[in-house]
Order: sequence, then structure tokens, then C-alpha cells
Amino acid sequence: MDFSNKVVLITGASGGIGASCALRFAALNANLALVGRNVENLNNVAGKCKELKGNRPLTIKADISIDDDDQRIITETIDRYGKLDVLVNNAGFLIMSGITGDIKNFDKMVATNIRGTYLLTQKAVPHLLETKGNIVNVSSVVSMKPIPSMMAYSMTKAAMDIFTKCAALELGPNGVRVNMVNPGPVNTNLFTANSLSQDQSEQFLDKLTGLIPLKKIVTSDDVAKLISFLASEDANCITGTSHIIDCGIMLGDPNA
Ligand SMILES: NC(=O)c1ccc[n+]([C@@H]2O[C@H](COP(=O)([O-])OP(=O)(O)OC[C@H]3O[C@@H](n4cnc5c(N)ncnc54)[C@H](OP(=O)(O)O)[C@@H]3O)[C@@H](O)[C@H]2O)c1
Repeated sequence: MDFSNKVVLITGASGGIGASCALRFAALNANLALVGRNVENLNNVAGKCKELKGNRPLTIKADISIDDDDQRIITETIDRYGKLDVLVNNAGFLIMSGITGDIKNFDKMVATNIRGTYLLTQKAVPHLLETKGNIVNVSSVVSMKPIPSMMAYSMTKAAMDIFTKCAALELGPNGVRVNMVNPGPVNTNLFTANSLSQDQSEQFLDKLTGLIPLKKIVTSDDVAKLISFLASEDANCITGTSHIIDCGIMLGDPNA
């Protein structure tokens, strides 16, 4: 698998799964545009990519929930590289919020997880049509598995699933593929950024591990490998599909 001469744009590249994607694509020789709001973290990831392969990625400080930022992300990428081959829509966040939760939690997550992703993709599409490139969206197993405390977040991920399929159907005849990965829990800042303390997050993941068929938690590097496969020529016949990566969680508790 080789991404030499390919331009890969990754949102939410300043940490977690997005940072792992940046390192994975860097190792595969991609030219990278990395997006996030935290400049220090973004530069840190870009520095590691440079150490790995010698190419310093373009870093773009941007908030995908802001319309002007979405246009600027694409403009800066095209100004630097002249084209776009792969868009990884990874930026997103979780606020635990169920049916009695504040509706503002839902609005905030929609603005980034769905509206921002939708608008950024819209701006990227003309360039992906030129290169016959592809898109990989980062959804979640909770788009399919109801967990009441994650209702609002899950709704944004369920929207991402149908967004992926509709876009794949619309863009397929013009040679652009669109796929998604649906990870189970991964030990990143997702849980601690807005909802749980570090201790709570670790306890949650520890407890969960015992119930998982493979008795382990997916890592962000595992997800990055799947994303890079879907973005590669090896996946040239795959479009509109969901790829669960969860160590078997969706199969249910093996002791049940
Ligand atoms: N961890 C899990 O268990 C899990 C499972 C399934 C799916 N996912 C999905 O995986 C994706 C990555 O999450 P993660 O687990 O890696 O969490 P994370 O470590 O918290 O990373 C989230 C990334 O998204 C960026 N981000 C958030 N809001 C943004 C915005 N408005 N504009 C631009 N960047 C934004 C953050 O960067 P800045 O703070 O620098 O902006 C950060 O780089 C998310 O879509 C999440 O829903 C995670």
C-alpha cells in the first residue's frame, strides 16, 4: 500500500484516531493536510510525521463547525498541493446526553459531527471528482447499537451512516468512493473531553474489556490501518459500506 503522490486531508488530526491516521498515512508516503483546533497538538503530530518520513504536513487550525473554516480548509489544501485524493472525516466529539439531556448538547454535536462534516465534504467533492479520489468517514458502532446515555451522539453517527451511503451512490458513477468505519470504544480523549473523568473513563473501558469477545479494546492505530486500507487502491471495489472494528462487541457478551 503506497500513497506517494496522493494528498490526504484528515480532520481531527490533533489527537486520538486522527493522529494515528496522520502517522499511518505519513508512513505510507502520503502528502498530508492535518486539521484541528489545538495548534500545539496539531504541530506535535505534524512533527512526528516529519520525523517518520521527512515531509512536514500542512497543518490547518480550523473548526469544522464554522462554515468559513470548511472552505478555508479546502482552499489551503489546494493552494499547497494542487489537488485532493482522500478526505478522512474524523473530527467529532461526544457529550453524554440522553432523552432528558440538554438539547444544546445535541445541537453542538450536530454542528460538528454532521453539519461540519457535510459542508466540508461538499467543498471537497469537486476536487475529489477531478482525482477520482475517495472519502472515509469515522462513524461508530453506536450508530447501530442503542445506548441511552449516548442517544444524542448516536443520532449524529446514525446520520453519518446514511450520509455515507447516499454520497457513495451519488458519487460512485463519477469514480469517487465513500466508505465508513464504525469503531467500538477506543481509548482516546473522546470520553474525557466532555463527559467522564480520566478515572471514570479507565474504569469504563476496563469493565467493558471483560465483556468483549476478543477481551481487548481496539486501538486508534487499528482504526487507522482500516481507514488507510479503505482509502487505498486495494479497496477499489468497495464503496458505500460500513466497516465495524470493535473486537466483537456487536456480537454480544460471550458469557451471556
Ligand atoms: N474513541 C472512541 O471510542 C470512538 C469510537 C467510535 C468512533 N469514534 C469517533 O472517532 C473520531 C475521533 O475521535 P477520537 O476518539 O480520536 O477522540 P479525540 O481523541 O477526542 O479526538 C477528536 C479529534 O477531533 C477534533 N475535533 C473535535 N471537534 C472539532 C471541530 N469542531 N473542528 C475540528 N476538529 C475537531 C479534535 O481536535 P481539536 O480539539 O484540536 O479540535 C481531535 O483531534 C470521532 O468522530 C469520534 O466520534 C471514537
